[in-house]
Amino acid sequence: MRDNMPVHYSAADYDRYTTDAVSTYDDGMIRRLLQEYRLMGRGKRVLLDIGTGTAQLLLKIAADPDFEDIELIGTDFFEDMVEQARQTVAEAELSDRIRIEQSDVHEMPQPEGAADLIISRSTIHHWADPPQAFREVFRLLKRGGVAIIHEPRRDPAPEALAEFNRLRAEQGIEPARMDEKYTSEEVRGFLAEAGLNRNGMVLTPMQGPGALGMEVRISKAGWFRRNLVKLVGKIGISPLKNPWGNR
Ligand SMILES: C[S@@+](CC[C@H](N)C(=O)[O-])C[C@H]1O[C@@H](n2cnc3c(N)ncnc32)[C@H](O)[C@@H]1O
Repeated sequence: MRDNMPVHYSAADYDRYTTDAVSTYDDGMIRRLLQEYRLMGRGKRVLLDIGTGTAQLLLKIAADPDFEDIELIGTDFFEDMVEQARQTVAEAELSDRIRIEQSDVHEMPQPEGAADLIISRSTIHHWADPPQAFREVFRLLKRGGVAIIHEPRRDPAPEALAEFNRLRAEQGIEPARMDEKYTSEEVRGFLAEAGLNRNGMVLTPMQGPGALGMEVRISKAGWFRRNLVKLVGKIGISPLKNPWGNR
């Protein structure tokens, strides 16, 4: 098993970079989160952002009135990220709205069923043991809960990668290292190894900003709801239809 991998920059640089270069991708994630939140019937919920980095995505979620009833918790494994996330949240005067905790996705301190919604972005290739991490994500979900994990893929749509690298270049950051990422097939293999064939699926958008990667959706819904989501996803009439493609 390999080690958990930190980002290739200092936490302060990463904070600056995620403020500007990835806002297009924040929008896709927030759209997907809202779809899942609506599907589960809004109300008071707990959301965990695992591998939150410096919590920039959580700042946007906190600013959105659609999510005002959701308790927001960001976690990260690396101490410098946790410190920077706390500082970023404090500077935004959101410390009483967003809690930042240090923990490892492979061994989370929360009890089973602690979260209604879990999000995680660009994290799988940082994890030492993806199947174990997926098992933890599933354990943490409440019954009816959903996790949305968006991950860049080794073989992205060329236009999506070109656009991503253009945004990075604007911030003075080198092109993304795609060789360290996984393919959708490899991630499907991790889900299978985690025993989550029935509860997990991998969607691979072919166009729009989301075509940079894949979405892993893990659900703790019962049989009927799980299959309903799969069916409407397949025939393309649902709000799940390429939510990553819209700009
Ligand atoms: C590319 S960054 C993504 C950060 C954030 N999700 C975003 O979209 O900006 C990957 C994050 O995963 C964190 N990480 C790496 N291994 C982890 C682990 N085992 N448990 C939790 N977080 C981890 C890193 O510290 C880093 O903040």
